[in-house]
Amino acid sequence: MKASSSWLTLLGPRLLLYLLPLVLKITGLSSLDGGHSYPQSYKGVVGGNVSFYCPVDKTKNLHFLYFQKVVVNGKHIFFNGYHSKPLQPQQRTKMDHNNTIMHIYELTLSDSGEYECYYMYQDDVNTLDQGVNTVKIHLNVTALFSKPVITNICNQANGIPLECEVKCEAYNGFPDKKIKWNELRNISKEMWNILMNDEVPTRTELVNISSTASFNCSVGELKVSCSVDGITSDIISVCSSKASPDQSANPIVIAAVVCVLVGIAILCVFKFKKRTTEAENARPNGHPEEVRVLNNVGS
Ligand SMILES: *[C@@H]1O[C@H](CO)[C@@H](O)[C@H](O)[C@H]1NC(C)=O
Ligand SMILES: *[C@@H]1O[C@H](CO)[C@@H](O)[C@H](O)[C@H]1NC(C)=O
Ligand SMILES: *[C@@H]1O[C@H](CO)[C@@H](O)[C@H](O)[C@H]1NC(C)=O
Ligand SMILES: *[C@@H]1O[C@H](CO)[C@@H](O)[C@H](O)[C@H]1NC(C)=O
Ligand SMILES: *[C@@H]1O[C@H](CO)[C@@H](O)[C@H](O)[C@H]1NC(C)=O
Ligand SMILES: *[C@@H]1O[C@H](CO)[C@@H](O)[C@H](O)[C@H]1NC(C)=O
Repeated sequence: MKASSSWLTLLGPRLLLYLLPLVLKITGLSSLDGGHSYPQSYKGVVGGNVSFYCPVDKTKNLHFLYFQKVVVNGKHIFFNGYHSKPLQPQQRTKMDHNNTIMHIYELTLSDSGEYECYYMYQDDVNTLDQGVNTVKIHLNVTALFSKPVITNICNQANGIPLECEVKCEAYNGFPDKKIKWNELRNISKEMWNILMNDEVPTRTELVNISSTASFNCSVGELKVSCSVDGITSDIISVCSSKASPDQSANPIVIAAVVCVLVGIAILCVFKFKKRTTEAENARPNGHPEEVRVLNNVGS
């Protein structure tokens, strides 16, 4: 109590007047300007769900409440909710009347756009201006590109690569994105260049994108990957003179093999030690013998 009152004196009540609408706006809870709430903005991904919330005064009874989509030329399409006429709800929608929420399932790109929650309180039915309230809602549906696929074709002379063309592709995303190249040795930009970016002009459907880069192999072996939207491809080896990528070492396999070898080595040492200890016990002067056996292990 003490803390909050000193806080108030410090900042002054005027600041609260500025902060209150901001807090209401962030929580998306209410409307201070009589009926027209602040626009709400939602994001969805193709195949996902979204839930539109219509902020109403829970202490009042509603006469009607429904969601509609605003289409071109200012027309509306009824989505779901209570309407004065018995209208068929759109597929893939479900109304939660208690919480004034409409769910839309299995989103598609064409669900993007402007929506409205349209409602009236029972108390306002017989008033002259019939206070109808509108909440504006914006929905933006995007699609994440697949993990980029990276492939490599090299020009060789006698098995030694001279120049490699690396292609990076990502599928079924929206909107169009730029492919980013990651060359992990940070060689001079003169030694490689992007030959082609296949980006698709603005469309309303899912797009595939690709980029092709060329690497001059005089710099030796390189590690390269590409990224779209923060998702990175596998890292490939470019300009490697060792033949097929299948033979390139997998770190997990190497680790496993090393573990097994170390395990065998430890077992062997124990066995030899046991044997030499037994031999030692049998002989009074065991030390030279032990040295000899251990030397044999190494050979
Ligand atoms: C969408 O909603 C359905 C039904 O509630 C649920 O099974 C599914 O996991 C949801 N999908 C996503 C991407 O949230
Ligand atoms: C809505 O509220 C009513 C009354 O409180 C309750 O009986 C009903 O089960 C609720 N419906 C849902 C879907 O929560
Ligand atoms: C939708 O969201 C994407 C990614 O956040 C953005 O690039 C695009 O401009 C947005 N579109 C609209 C119509 O708001
Ligand atoms: C890569 O090299 C350039 C030029 O040599 C340098 O400016 C840049 O900081 C380097 N970047 C990294 C990540 O090492
Ligand atoms: C994108 O690539 C996928 C998989 O290769 C293919 O099925 C789809 O038709 C392509 N889409 C376009 C717009 O080219
Ligand atoms: C690769 O770089 C070397 C050295 O800079 C240059 O002599 C050669 O012409 C380049 N090769 C290609 C195919 O650009």
